[in-house]
Amino acid sequence: MQIVYLNEKFLPVEQAQVSVLDRGFLFADGVYEVIPAYGRHLLRLGDHLQRLQSSLDGIRLSNPLSNERWTQLLNELISKNDGDDQSIYVQVTRGAAEKRAHAFPVPVRHTVFCMSTPLLPVSKQQLLQGIAAITLDDIRWHACHIKSTALLANVLASQQAVDKNASEAILLRDGMVTEGAVSNIFIVSHGVMLTPPKSPLLLPGITRDLIIELARSNAMVCKEQEISEHALRGADEIWITSSTREILPVVTLDGKIIADGKPGAVWHRMIDIYQEYKKRLRSGEES
Ligand code: PDD
Repeated sequence: MQIVYLNEKFLPVEQAQVSVLDRGFLFADGVYEVIPAYGRHLLRLGDHLQRLQSSLDGIRLSNPLSNERWTQLLNELISKNDGDDQSIYVQVTRGAAEKRAHAFPVPVRHTVFCMSTPLLPVSKQQLLQGIAAITLDDIRWHACHIKSTALLANVLASQQAVDKNASEAILLRDGMVTEGAVSNIFIVSHGVMLTPPKSPLLLPGITRDLIIELARSNAMVCKEQEISEHALRGADEIWITSSTREILPVVTLDGKIIADGKPGAVWHRMIDIYQEYKKRLRSGEES
């Protein structure tokens, strides 16, 4: 049975209900996090809670819970659900008001919702063969660093990828790579890993930061640098990264083969390092 957390209560998902006047429903007025747990250990919880705080600050919504309380309730949620590897979804909205009006209600009664779903391993085929991606114009707003539930542009981009039998859409703004519809982007060029620097135009991915950290501690060269469309198309390797898909190699872009059409050597090295990190997390040696 899937147990979720809603406003201070743990209950079966079928029984969890929110008001139709909830501003998350009416305005997508809320923020979220997705946190992977391996062996029931949350990955980089401190970083996820920090990003949640900065998303809340970005929409001028107070944090309803202390970090101690978040930690306690997320661990309790994990213990109440099946499976050692779980994907934890956290959402905070500006709650329901008496009537629909755009400006903030006073007082605010937050809606806090958390759920766990099984974190399924990435398919062997995707790992061995790599994935297809397409490019699209990034039509989103200028505050993509906020992990907002207003994801319609990302939803439409993801569907356009699916329509083309691709697994991700890589977004371009003014000729530069920002990120994927649901991921961050790395390329490898002449042995050097590159990823766009943090800015309001992309989400500061926790997986992205972890990969940069792991690369540097393993003497791999990794730079935070703008990536032009030209550099993307001519890359030796392209990867997408996220909490749920980890690090996936892109082998075709807009139907054209990248390099030799196989996951590259640098990706192979990095995925091994990432799997080692997960092993240490599972045994409680890492956070
Ligand atoms: N999203 N950029 C976007 C637009 C994303 O939606 C995500 C992940 C990322 C990667 O961030 P992280 O490494 O912290 O997962 C980058 C999650 C998985 C989601 O919306 O389901």
